[in-house]
Amino acid sequence: MILNIKHILWLYCLCEAATATGKPVTGSLSGKVNLPCFFSTIPTSAPVISPNGTAIYSNDYLRIKWTKIEGEVESTVLVAQNGVIKIGSSYRNRVSVPSHPEDVGDASLTMVKLRASDAGTYRCEVMYGIEDTQDTVNLDVRGVVFHYRASTNRYTLDYQEAVQTCQDVGATIATYDQLKAAYEDGFDQCDAGWIADQTVRYPIIKPRKGCYGNLLTKPGVRSYGTRKPTETYDVYCYVDKLDGEVFYAPVTQKMTFEEAREECKKRKAVLASPGQLHAAWRQGLDRCDYGWLSDGSVRHPVAVPRNKCGGGLLGVRTMYRYRNQTVLFKYPRFPVFPLCVIPQK
Ligand SMILES: *[C@@H]1O[C@H](CO)[C@@H](O)[C@H](O)[C@H]1NC(C)=O
Ligand SMILES: *[C@@H]1O[C@H](CO)[C@@H](O)[C@H](O)[C@H]1NC(C)=O
Repeated sequence: MILNIKHILWLYCLCEAATATGKPVTGSLSGKVNLPCFFSTIPTSAPVISPNGTAIYSNDYLRIKWTKIEGEVESTVLVAQNGVIKIGSSYRNRVSVPSHPEDVGDASLTMVKLRASDAGTYRCEVMYGIEDTQDTVNLDVRGVVFHYRASTNRYTLDYQEAVQTCQDVGATIATYDQLKAAYEDGFDQCDAGWIADQTVRYPIIKPRKGCYGNLLTKPGVRSYGTRKPTETYDVYCYVDKLDGEVFYAPVTQKMTFEEAREECKKRKAVLASPGQLHAAWRQGLDRCDYGWLSDGSVRHPVAVPRNKCGGGLLGVRTMYRYRNQTVLFKYPRFPVFPLCVIPQK
């Protein structure tokens, strides 16, 4: 009977561990996080008494294993054993554990160059002597890189304007590391844009005619190198976390830009900026109807791929005037829904 209860308790503990009840760890795109995992350093194997009388504890059996749990599948992130470290392919050069974990009982995983796709549940398992410690931890990754084009035409922003434009739309100009991390997550955009270091680049997953750049037919982030600040391009902006709550005003009729602004005001809100919409999209905002934004652009978020909505593609869709997407759709009297945000105090 006692055995049974023990068994139940043990099962209960495993369940607890697998759902990661602790506070999730949050990091930003291209940033760094530490996923905590601690274990007892009290030696569990019997000491060997050496001829001179000192006790020697055998600690040669230490194994640290970090995995990522995705549904039924557990994929290897890192395994460290007897000084040998194996790292899963998508984590190469991005993860590490302390160099002498047995001294401090710390097997925490440091992860750098964070990607949105790193978000999820991780399990650490430490075998030290005969002790087996397990823990799980959830990771959230916030931040989105997005392409921004002035409404008038393609490639019209000089470097200063590019920096300012990102700020005007509720974001900051993206760094190279942020653009690279977004690329690793699948960002593909065949438009040259300024980034913070005054280089001009664009991310290409599927090389195609007109999008070869300096990398020809290889996928990767293309670069035009450092450019004179007076040259003009589009820009890549970055938004970290969402300040406030973005929502479609629950109206029965589509509205002009002015009406939409008034409608948000009635709800103690304002029209959302493109930066806020991207951040909300990243948090799962999904709707197939276009809406007005604060910069007078017309966009909508697709967080769940559907053929009937954006052709199965994910992301924030933008309405352009022409098929070739050179000029934004800017007709303030055109009726769409208001996309509002309640600013955070
Ligand atoms: C005792 O022997 C062990 C190895 O057998 C050695 O590591 C340790 O330094 C020795 N200690 C003393 C006080 O001589
Ligand atoms: C894009 O399309 C518009 C209208 O068809 C045309 O006037 C413009 O020259 C095109 N721009 C480019 C870069 O192809």
